[in-house]
Amino acid sequence: MTITLEKSQERFLEKFKTSREFTERCRGKIPGGYSRVSFNYGPHAIFVDRGEGQYIYTIDGHRLLDLNNNFTVNVIGHNHPKITGALTEAIQDGFSFGNPMKYEHQLAEMICDRVESVEKIKFSCSASESCISAVRIARANTGKNKIAKFEGGYHGFIDDLQISAHPAPDRFPGPADYPAPLADSAGIPSYTVENTIILPQNDPTGCEKILRENARDIACVIMELQSGAGGVIVLDKDFVHGIRAITEELGILMIIDETITLRADYNGMQAVYGLKPDLTVMGKIIGGGLPLGAVGGRAELFHVTENGQVHLSGTHQGHPLAAVAGMACLEVMDKAAHDRLNELAEQIKKELNEWSDQKSFPFIIYGAFSFLGIAFTDKPGRELKSHRDFWNFSNDDHALTFALEMANRDFFPVHRGQISLSLPMTDEDIKGFINTTKEIVTGIFED
Ligand SMILES: Cc1ncc(COP(=O)(O)O)c(C=O)c1O
Repeated sequence: MTITLEKSQERFLEKFKTSREFTERCRGKIPGGYSRVSFNYGPHAIFVDRGEGQYIYTIDGHRLLDLNNNFTVNVIGHNHPKITGALTEAIQDGFSFGNPMKYEHQLAEMICDRVESVEKIKFSCSASESCISAVRIARANTGKNKIAKFEGGYHGFIDDLQISAHPAPDRFPGPADYPAPLADSAGIPSYTVENTIILPQNDPTGCEKILRENARDIACVIMELQSGAGGVIVLDKDFVHGIRAITEELGILMIIDETITLRADYNGMQAVYGLKPDLTVMGKIIGGGLPLGAVGGRAELFHVTENGQVHLSGTHQGHPLAAVAGMACLEVMDKAAHDRLNELAEQIKKELNEWSDQKSFPFIIYGAFSFLGIAFTDKPGRELKSHRDFWNFSNDDHALTFALEMANRDFFPVHRGQISLSLPMTDEDIKGFINTTKEIVTGIFED
């Protein structure tokens, strides 16, 4: 074994010395050094000076291929002239008013044209906020209180939903086919936890039993079709259609959280699955890199927001600049752009998985579109069908070693074993990533 966690960490600390010094300084005033927990990367985060196209330039003076892309946001890369141009023009008119501007509506039309189930839409500043809105709309429409969500499903840091988002294996409460809710953070009230029903991923029998038993109380089921923070678990198409049929029968609203999966297809991942949920949550790419979230869905469900029953509002919600950036981003993301990203992802999966099979390495790269999971598993060929599989069969130390070593070799992935692609990436960039992955994986298992 030539590549170990210890050695990779040593090289990382040396290469990103300035970032380390910055982190230490920042920790004096900001708990942890930065406001986002997800920045944590091995010993410390890597501070960035600027981004250009598919690259980031760190304060340590290195250029890295950005495979993180702000956790899937930067689908068209950094400093794209369409986005910066549109923002530069719009900013001159002012950008903070107690009046609406035209942009929000223009973006709403774009999204409604693309995502068939979205007839009306309300914007916020983040997907977390829009998840709050979606749940409130669901509760108001159904008159029920409880929320059903999946174990391993992440829907932001809000009390109602940061429950069983990533329980670790030593803390899996309840049986796999009937998980019990567990708060992911201290400070979430026990009454909120008790009002949350947890569903097992890709287990139709378990889900049906739980939903039927609790149907009287459940306002909505919220789900990602492919999880992000929870380990890139893809829900099978038939399984999701089964859930759809049960929710319709039981008077439960279905919310699909497409915060990440909207990049899967011009019409969203729901279109790939041929699904029409009641509500859809969006974020990330719809703001083009500025803070924006949205909840959209069947027009009649929004009556409660129009007749004053449901109050949803905030100072910066639907911010004009975020709407301008979002429109510019979506304009670039035409059907061909989505196809290109998905083709690159398929190429990466095919080449690396065939190679890994041949070598009999317990290593896989998986996922349904241009956001992929990388797992060092307990045995070659292992499939990950649920969040529990992800924890039970993945090797965390190898995943961290891989992430650190990638950065040491000028690639910047998501530390928890994920990559997201961006449009400016060239065939050469992809080849470089594939070859570097092979070198690191070989170094971990062989040599
Ligand atoms: C599926 C999903 N939903 C909701 C959120 C929360 O989004 P935000 O960080 O914009 O609040 C995220 C964030 O990563 C996410 O991946």
